[in-house]
Amino acid sequence: MASPHVLIFPLPLQGPVNSMLKLAELLSLAGIQVTFLNTDHIHRRLLRHTHVQSRFSRYHNFRFRTISDGLPEDNPRSGEQVMEIFGAIDAVTRPLFREMMISGDLSSSGVTCIIADGVFDFAVGVAKEIGVPLIYFDTISPCGLWTYLCVPKLIEAGDLPFEGKDLDAKITCVPGMEGFLRHRDLPSFCRTSNVADPIIQLVMREVQQIPRAQGHIVNTFEDLEGPILHQMRSLCPNLYPIGPLQAHLKARLGAGTTSPQSPSSNSLWEEDKSCMAWLDAQPPKSVIYVSFGSLALMTMDQFMEFWYGLVNSGKRFLWVRRPGSVAQKEGESEIPSELSQGTKERGCIVAWAPQEEVLAHPAVGVFLTHSGWNSTLESIVEGVPMICWPYFVDQQVNSRFVGEVWKLGMDMKDTCDRTIIEKIVRDVMEVRRDEFMQSANLMAKLARESVGEGGTSYHSLDRLIDDIKSMRF
Ligand code: UDX
Repeated sequence: MASPHVLIFPLPLQGPVNSMLKLAELLSLAGIQVTFLNTDHIHRRLLRHTHVQSRFSRYHNFRFRTISDGLPEDNPRSGEQVMEIFGAIDAVTRPLFREMMISGDLSSSGVTCIIADGVFDFAVGVAKEIGVPLIYFDTISPCGLWTYLCVPKLIEAGDLPFEGKDLDAKITCVPGMEGFLRHRDLPSFCRTSNVADPIIQLVMREVQQIPRAQGHIVNTFEDLEGPILHQMRSLCPNLYPIGPLQAHLKARLGAGTTSPQSPSSNSLWEEDKSCMAWLDAQPPKSVIYVSFGSLALMTMDQFMEFWYGLVNSGKRFLWVRRPGSVAQKEGESEIPSELSQGTKERGCIVAWAPQEEVLAHPAVGVFLTHSGWNSTLESIVEGVPMICWPYFVDQQVNSRFVGEVWKLGMDMKDTCDRTIIEKIVRDVMEVRRDEFMQSANLMAKLARESVGEGGTSYHSLDRLIDDIKSMRF
């Protein structure tokens, strides 16, 4: 029997690359040979960081390969360009990938299994052509993915398109979410007047291909999303819930890891570690950590509302202001001078933070987040309550679950007003502090247990490793 060799092919964005690299490390640790297929652009950005290079060079059974994403190097590949990224992947990367696997340098490399992002609908066809199993890994939340899988039902029920409808009206055709899911909580792409939208069509193709895969990996754990996983199994019976991946990797690497870098940092941006010294000087649970991930964009007006809301709340804050994340008008300066003063007193601003370390710091009391799935899980693992301001795709669903189902914080979607922000900050950090801390601590404990020996995610990962090794699909 051929020795197990997995090809991992992530969507070239920070969140998915981060999750897939963690999975790659876990499989390498289990003795499986791994080829990680990065786009050239992601690869250049990732490997600029020497700690990433040295971490992966430890695994003799791990190697990177690259492929074009079809875009010129100077394309910013920001949140606004997501459909352009998908378009280029479809036109350029899709045929290149097929060629690479069928007649190119990966055709003779002995790949025995492909793990690809769920959005790569073309991967199933290629895997079938070369006769190897394909496992999809959707790095978004299962609760978000389940609403994607229900898009045909939503169209049939007349809930989609919903432009112009009452955003607070309840959705009744997503099994497992009856009673709390409103139109406004559906993925952002549902806010359309036309179901022929390219992104809805992309989701429909994904929905058709997903059941053709031999298995499906998800970054979650049973205690968090058991009822949703139960629903998903009706379409994807062979499900591997192996998250939270960052906690799982730490657990399997062993508690004794003393690397100066966070063992799982896969940042594409340079991390500004100066904020850790700033955090060291703050009292326990006193700081709001503010970060809107790798793709979200806001207007200068929204930025100012957040600014005044935070300053008026009287709390300390550490704010990640990713370059290019605030749309500036002609002549507008990066940070208005009236604000710099306030920053010196109670705030710290960085361009990119070592987020996992920040969330683990005892000074951090709440996370103001865009509800990206990695960020949500990282907050859950560290027991940090959240204030959610979702930007797009699954984030609208995730924030509803944080606020309404898991009671781990508050959802402020579709609002951006300084008085509301100030009030929510006070509610989460003062008025309802004990209630949120209690549920956050409990969920963090369950998350850690799930990846410990005997835990549900631990067991799922062992099953995945066994299935890959024995090719039992
Ligand atoms: C994208 C999608 O938009 C999101 O909805 C989906 O769930 C995953 O992919 P993204 O903006 O990349 O989201 O957010 P997220 O999934 O939260 O990932 C961001 C990653 O960047 C996290 O792992 C976080 O730790 C890291 N990060 C963020 C840093 O390391 N430093 C920072 O300063 C900010």
